[in-house]
Amino acid sequence: MTKYLINDYVKSGDAIKSPLRYPGGKFYALKHIMPYIQCVEHDEFREPFFGGGAIFFAKQKVKYNIINDLESDIMDFYRWIKDEDQAEALIKLLDKEVANRERHQEIKDFEPITELDKVFKTYYLNRTSYCGIINSPAWGYKDGKSSPPQNWGNFIRKATPKLHDVDMYSLDFAEILEMPARGKTVMMYLDPPYYHTDTKRAYTKPFKEEDHKRLSDALKKTKYLFCLSYDDCPEIREFYKWAKIYDASWQYNTVNSQRKRMIGKELIITNYEAESK
Ligand SMILES: C[S@@+](CC[C@H](N)C(=O)[O-])C[C@H]1O[C@@H](n2cnc3c(N)ncnc32)[C@H](O)[C@@H]1O
Repeated sequence: MTKYLINDYVKSGDAIKSPLRYPGGKFYALKHIMPYIQCVEHDEFREPFFGGGAIFFAKQKVKYNIINDLESDIMDFYRWIKDEDQAEALIKLLDKEVANRERHQEIKDFEPITELDKVFKTYYLNRTSYCGIINSPAWGYKDGKSSPPQNWGNFIRKATPKLHDVDMYSLDFAEILEMPARGKTVMMYLDPPYYHTDTKRAYTKPFKEEDHKRLSDALKKTKYLFCLSYDDCPEIREFYKWAKIYDASWQYNTVNSQRKRMIGKELIITNYEAESK
């Protein structure tokens, strides 16, 4: 196993925040996860479970990038805002918006016809629903605490150049792992739904026991380097006993009945050795 020396997380010059709020988003974990990615020099990066893409948006962009999520509404949103003119057309609609319960309900009931209407609905519901969940969304916007609609345009404007030239898919993760390399060194960051989590509530596609197993089998075979984050539990430790497992803990933002950020015990798993100084 190749050994890499890890340093503290250094914010990259092109770091931005994700334009989306996302259940299970890794914004709060950047300083824990990023050192394991930054220590490997790579010219191709893949994120098969992209969601809000906290890691991709924060990291230095490399030559080749593939982002993917089975949730097609989310990928359609990124595909739309990747183009500057399309992004501006969306921002024009959002700038006029208000965030209140009545409007939230109206947009939930709204049946979009055009692609622009579709991404508008996705984004409005993401920003105003509990935890950013767009799958059966519940009102979750707080005046004075949540970002108002007039700020949303800037989140999108910052994301557009970062998404330029990025390949986007809405496939099962296995297909992304199998794509041929274009760069000399391929680094993958994988953030699947946690083993113990309410995936039915947060995501439209369930991730079952057999999917966790399938992921472990595919990663065991891959010739690319990977960094994987998971909840710490005996089942995952067993699936990855052939890999390097590092203990970590960070605050996370996900679906829980107490509606607060929890500190979780997490694992970072790699197929290379990461040694701290
Ligand atoms: C924990 S979230 C990723 C969060 C992301 N790292 C962030 O910072 O926002 C897991 C994602 O995996 C996606 N997903 C679930 N099953 C999948 C599959 N079979 N293939 C690809 N993506 C899948 C879900 O739609 C969800 O967006």
